[in-house]
Amino acid sequence: MEITNVTEYEAIAKQKLPKMVFDYYASGAEDQWTLYQNRHAFSQILFRPRILIDVSKIDMTTTVLGFKISMPIMIAPTAMQKMAHPEGEYATARAASAAGTIMTLSSWATSSVEEVASTGPGIRFFQLYVYKDRHVVAQLVRRAERAGFKAIALTVDTPRLGRREADIKNRFTLPPFLTLKNFEGLDLGKMDKADDSGLASYVAGQIDRTLSWKDVKWLQTITNLPILVKGVLTAEDTRLAIQAGAAGIIVSNHGARQLDYVPATIMALEEVVKAAQGRVPVFLDGGVRRGTDVFKALALGASGIFIGRPVVFSLAAEGEAGVRKVLQMLREEFELTMALSGCRSLKEITRDHIVTEWEVPPPGSRPLPRL
Ligand code: FNR
Repeated sequence: MEITNVTEYEAIAKQKLPKMVFDYYASGAEDQWTLYQNRHAFSQILFRPRILIDVSKIDMTTTVLGFKISMPIMIAPTAMQKMAHPEGEYATARAASAAGTIMTLSSWATSSVEEVASTGPGIRFFQLYVYKDRHVVAQLVRRAERAGFKAIALTVDTPRLGRREADIKNRFTLPPFLTLKNFEGLDLGKMDKADDSGLASYVAGQIDRTLSWKDVKWLQTITNLPILVKGVLTAEDTRLAIQAGAAGIIVSNHGARQLDYVPATIMALEEVVKAAQGRVPVFLDGGVRRGTDVFKALALGASGIFIGRPVVFSLAAEGEAGVRKVLQMLREEFELTMALSGCRSLKEITRDHIVTEWEVPPPGSRPLPRL
């Protein structure tokens, strides 16, 4: 049957993948309350479309950290993509490049920074997990820089791994024929089988729980690449991130895989945007599955969004063609949303184009429409 939207890939991936792999990709932490909210909160935002505007030409292009891309839809880092498809990260890199957008490569990729760079030209960011052994980190960042990656997305929400119960039940571990390629030569590329989630044990053994704001500064002493702080959910941390020299912020709850009962990212976005005061761009990931979701995030002040699960699910279903199709469907839906709400360029998308169910109108302002 023809695929007509991004979410349809999940069911196909479920059929195709071993249960351990599908569950790792799909699941969230604990009660998965935040996992549900990441999607649900988008449905609590309605449009206030403007009419009779000439929308015969729509421009979706934008600039991220100085790099021009074809649309504000980018690829979030998701680990271990060769579990989904033999071409894994290569396929994702090629699909992103063909779509004229940015791919973020995970530290825990099953392809190395050099291998991904060798797939051809493309604007790529590198997601960094900070290991206890800082030599490992410094070496990896230098390799990413040399391989032409343009920014570091520093993940800050993972001092320990969230409690993902499916992974515990399945005794999740990286299949033996794969390695975390970036760490292969460092003897950190394998994941042992454990009495719970093998990944949780790996994180407990290798990832630095002491990570703090001073390390964001340290990172700037070992690289000239701009640093995006990935995993901010509050105004307080937004201000600290900017003080620490972040070039941008990614509002993220790690696809609801870390702390459960944090708000949906789309609900946290505006607080962060206000605190950033336009000093650095703010991006969002979490639950984006429709062009309308992209529009809503931009209306709330995001400079762009990233998608996670749609990439691994489409990769599992159709490889590179699947990821291309996901990016194409989101592009077309977003373009249509812009046209139907009367916006011809990203700068024409404003806060007045949407209304959120959760906002309480200040006294004397216009009443909320009946929903
Ligand atoms: C992730 N995410 C993630 N984040 C990160 O910083 N490093 C990583 O290696 C991974 N790996 C990873 C694997 C899988 C299977 C998922 C689903 C997620 C989080 C990811 O970058 C992003 O924040 C979310 O995936 C966004 O939410 P959606 O689009 O999946 O709802």
